[in-house]
Amino acid sequence: MWRYEEQTVWSKNEMKWVKHYNSENEILLVGEGDFSFGLSLATAFGSATNIVATSLDSYDDLIKKYNGAATNLLILHSYGAQLLHGVDATKMQFHPYLQNRKFDRIIYNFPHAGFIGLENDPQVIEIHRNLVRGFLKNASCMLRFNGEVHVTHKTTTPFDSWNIEELGTQSSLQLLECVKFNIQDYPGYNNKRGDGKRSDEPFPLRKCNTFKFVLSSNLHHQNPLQDQEITSQTTNARQVMNPVFQIFREYFDHARLTYGITDEYLLSNVRNMLAIGFERCKAEDGVDPLNDYINHLKEIQYMSKLRIANLRNSLLEVDQRYAL
Ligand SMILES: C[S@@+](CC[C@H](N)C(=O)[O-])C[C@H]1O[C@@H](n2cnc3c(N)ncnc32)[C@H](O)[C@@H]1O
Repeated sequence: MWRYEEQTVWSKNEMKWVKHYNSENEILLVGEGDFSFGLSLATAFGSATNIVATSLDSYDDLIKKYNGAATNLLILHSYGAQLLHGVDATKMQFHPYLQNRKFDRIIYNFPHAGFIGLENDPQVIEIHRNLVRGFLKNASCMLRFNGEVHVTHKTTTPFDSWNIEELGTQSSLQLLECVKFNIQDYPGYNNKRGDGKRSDEPFPLRKCNTFKFVLSSNLHHQNPLQDQEITSQTTNARQVMNPVFQIFREYFDHARLTYGITDEYLLSNVRNMLAIGFERCKAEDGVDPLNDYINHLKEIQYMSKLRIANLRNSLLEVDQRYAL
């Protein structure tokens, strides 16, 4: 009879949820104000070891701006969060502690470039849009294959003219859904103006939504037939263009031999990785394709670990059933 050590088993029972987020997600928080959103998640999860919470402000500026920041940061730290300051959302993929890291959820609540003019001034709107565009572009490179980028934003005029969905499309992100945002879902969260003399004050929320994005290539892959077609195109192109592709191919063949050709979940995951790598290399002139592939290999390794954990769980269930 098999016995697996308790801590090696992926326990679904212990997973805690807050609205769209769970305690197993690796979460990156961007553009935090007084860090009360991060603390709200950490308190509900009872841990923040999977949370990286960041601000553009330095630590010293945060303390000056927000009354609650020092305490919030202290508690978040005690929950095990990684706290980073001086993180620019439009360059974050190159931050020394963030490069090569991938997340399940990347969240920016109420992006805003500061009070630089009237909110309905087209030039001001463009500055805000550039911030969101830069954030989404960076976030799209830091997502796990099945990850999501969430932007919470006001949907009243003139904020609706930021056209968040279009900004996502420009970074190979596709809108998965757009859901109403209720601050009550996050006890302890205080939304902050974040700029000027009244930084620590809240702003009226009125109507606002959470825009959830996924990598466009993932949505394309929900139809297995379409999946097959894209993969074969991608496969041919990459085979010709880069010998590193062979690593994926071997992995793919090995996975198919091990788990069988009918395992559509497994096959589509590997295909997604191929397609994402291909899209990235095509889109990013400046990026070293080899480095990009290495990051994808790390993701594939992550998926392998996930599968092993699931297999262990299944075996444990069988074990327990026969033990009765
Ligand atoms: C309206 S406040 C929202 C703050 C916080 N997310 C909240 O919900 O309370 C906008 C935030 O965006 C941050 N911000 C502005 N430009 C940024 C950038 N380039 N990178 C990261 N954060 C930025 C500001 O420092 C400020 O904290």
